[in-house]
Amino acid sequence: MERIAIYPGTFDPVTKGHIDICERAAKMFDHVVIGVADSLAKEPFFDVNERTEMLEMVFANNPKISIRPFSGLLIDFARDCESQIIIRGLRAISDFEYEVQLAGMNRSLANEIETVFLTAAQHYAFVSSSLVREIARLGGDVSEFLHPSILQKLTDKLESSKT
Ligand code: COA
Repeated sequence: MERIAIYPGTFDPVTKGHIDICERAAKMFDHVVIGVADSLAKEPFFDVNERTEMLEMVFANNPKISIRPFSGLLIDFARDCESQIIIRGLRAISDFEYEVQLAGMNRSLANEIETVFLTAAQHYAFVSSSLVREIARLGGDVSEFLHPSILQKLTDKLESSKT
């Protein structure tokens, strides 16, 4: 049986920190489905279609990784993907409390589903999508944290949102 893991998030936009976690997960499982949450409450800068397209661009050459948008409960998305494994990245200790709560709630809603944590690469331990957006908006250099095609998309969108 194929072991499918899901890697959920908002990815607004995807950073090299997310890419690192996802590529490492793809080495551990037969297939990884990246679940792009609509996260409407976060009022994302990129809409869910744009975020999905950006992820498709980044992982176009990796047949072990596919991308799907979702709304609703994460456990329903996992079941829909026929997956019982949720991948989450842990960056700093501050992520831990929230992640344990999320994993616990998901397990009580669906006890067949396990959450697997991967620690973020040290270099990306402090990266978050909103910080990257803010730095870019204020003219800072974020090329270290973004795939070149994502950097271009962010630059274009920031430019067009000024007009
Ligand atoms: N590298 C870089 N950044 C990372 C990262 C990594 N390895 N891991 C997380 N981040 C960043 C994210 O970009 C995000 O940044 P932002 O807040 O600036 O946008 C931040 O850390 C928080 O990430 P995360 O906790 O993954 O939040 P998220 O919004 O990306 O995803 C969902 C959260 C979608 C998984 C969660 O809300 C969910 O499950 N939603 C579905 C509804 C549901 O089932 N709710 C009940 C849950 S019990």
